[in-house]
Amino acid sequence: MKVVVIGSGEMGHGIAEVMAIYKNEVTLVDIKDEILDKAISKIRESLDRLKKRGSIEEEPEDILKRITKSINLEEAVKDADLVIEAVPEIVDLKQNIFKRLDQFTKPDAILATNTSNIRISEISKFVNKKDRVVGMHFFNPPVLMQLVEIIKGPDTSPEVVQKLYEITKQIGKTPVIVNKDTPGFIVNRINAAESLFICLVLQKGINYEEVDAYFRSLGLPMGPYELMDYVGLDIVAHSLEYFAKEISPEYGKCTKIKEMVNNGLLGRKSGRGFYDWTKGRPQINA
Ligand code: NAI
Repeated sequence: MKVVVIGSGEMGHGIAEVMAIYKNEVTLVDIKDEILDKAISKIRESLDRLKKRGSIEEEPEDILKRITKSINLEEAVKDADLVIEAVPEIVDLKQNIFKRLDQFTKPDAILATNTSNIRISEISKFVNKKDRVVGMHFFNPPVLMQLVEIIKGPDTSPEVVQKLYEITKQIGKTPVIVNKDTPGFIVNRINAAESLFICLVLQKGINYEEVDAYFRSLGLPMGPYELMDYVGLDIVAHSLEYFAKEISPEYGKCTKIKEMVNNGLLGRKSGRGFYDWTKGRPQINA
């Protein structure tokens, strides 16, 4: 199958990696060659780790041969069977990408979005082939996390949902079909409430390192602030903004994370958020 992943960041590079491991021909699209080169290096590092652990049989270099890079979206998608969009969580940006996908893809291509929260019906608002648009929500990191939410928009064809369900099983994941196209779907609808709470207590002056140390002591791999850094504070801020508009103005009361984003503190991807990530996973000394 020919798969095109649009956006080669935190999620896109991992999704491309999973697709290539399972023998699909993958094109990774982004806006600059340097960004794509960085994404390919991250995929190589990850494949090397998987090989060392014995999680893949094939040589990393052979898997990488199935991944090509492109900065020309129109050209890349024209013979795609499945397109997975993983650009930042900004409604206009996603709508614009889907307008272009509508125009340049084959009539039977599946047009999937990895959005964390935005309704499928909103993303497909300006698309004629609305029946081909569907949510395919991976979790971070895609190579390790099992769950994939498959979200049916009001116009998504049942055939598309079924086909994507089968593809998701073929790539070794556990698909869950979400029939209600509501903000955050299932998992993030619940997570958003937690993000809001931990942001509000932060604004009241809680020591986030102590909170993270406590959660780690319970055996969780990360505390909530560390996890927000890992996901990307820009993603969290966009999500809260979307929930404020769509669910309740309460979500708009969290201003601290937006402030951090405006100061360039995006978490792991920028090297600094609540923690310093420039030397790998943060030490938490609380
Ligand atoms: P990111 O910021 O790490 O990566 C986005 C990539 O898209 C960047 O490389 C950027 O250059 C590229 N991009 C921007 N405009 C583009 C365009 N016009 N054409 C092609 N590429 C373009 O973002 P991340 O974290 O990978 O998130 C992507 C999507 O996945 C968002 O919708 C997010 O909500 C969702 N998501 C994120 C998760 C996370 O833990 N970070 C988890 C699950 C879903």
